[in-house]
Amino acid sequence: MGLLDGKVAVVTGSGGGIGRAHALALAKEGAKVVVNDLGGARDGTGKGSAMADQVVEEIKKDGGEAAANYDSVASMEGGKAIIKTAVDSFGKIDILVNNAGILRDKTLLKTTEEMWDIVIAVHLKGTFACTQAAAAVMKDQGTGGRIINTSSTSGLLGNFGQSNYGSAKAGIAGFTRVTSLELQKYGITVNALVPIAITRMTDDLPAFSGGDPEEMGPQFISPVVVFLASDLAKDITGKFFGIQGRKINSYAIKMSEGVIKDKGMWTAQEIADNINKILDV
Ligand code: NAI
Repeated sequence: MGLLDGKVAVVTGSGGGIGRAHALALAKEGAKVVVNDLGGARDGTGKGSAMADQVVEEIKKDGGEAAANYDSVASMEGGKAIIKTAVDSFGKIDILVNNAGILRDKTLLKTTEEMWDIVIAVHLKGTFACTQAAAAVMKDQGTGGRIINTSSTSGLLGNFGQSNYGSAKAGIAGFTRVTSLELQKYGITVNALVPIAITRMTDDLPAFSGGDPEEMGPQFISPVVVFLASDLAKDITGKFFGIQGRKINSYAIKMSEGVIKDKGMWTAQEIADNINKILDV
């Protein structure tokens, strides 16, 4: 008996890296999995079917059920086609993991419009396109659902040279909070991962190079996906799970207590005089 027997999952960008680990872990728990991957390079150029096909083969070899999809998440048609693959292949969709991603790193003054647009399109619009298509089917099915997005410390905490990527990932955090509220009435939970793992996306970054995949590989991220996808997490929504190796934590936005003026409006000088209290979270 698996935790996800009878469930149908879609994992975007699961032809490699963290997404592949999610697909294998979900299949191991009994889910039928749509392995979506555009099959391009780390910067989003190129495409092909080999990456998704290989993960489908791995799942089948292990006794699981899987189907491949090669559409890009970055358009509404792509999102619909990816979810349709689940319905056509396995009759429904219960779980969507929005994981597909690319990088086009440059500092602000060197970021071109194209670098901005493509990164926002794949991460932020892709998450919207797939979630909207999946939530519509989940609502009609009437059996609830699980949506698991992928944010990043780049968006939540900031990271040098990633204004496009960080903005997309912070956007996904806001999208997670809003849609978790909206979809609650259909029994659909929406949570987000904040992963750190050695993959082709990170293996040349100084913080990762020389890291041990046995200690920081993508496989460490996926148990949280299995948990969130299962009945064990039916009441958990709108949360952010940080995962790095054997560590799991959560992120939240904090507000300071602030200051209230007795009467009238604040002057700039008074704000300066109270700045420590205002900023004290
Ligand atoms: P990766 O490059 O190995 O995986 C990304 C996958 O998405 C690739 O297989 C790629 O072909 C696919 N993809 C790219 N554009 C696509 C599109 N338009 N449509 C469908 N598939 C597409 O990188 P990794 O590290 O596994 O990244 C997975 C997710 O985790 C990404 O959203 C990334 O931003 C996020 N992330 C990763 C971190 C890390 O430490 N590796 C840190 C924070 C977030």
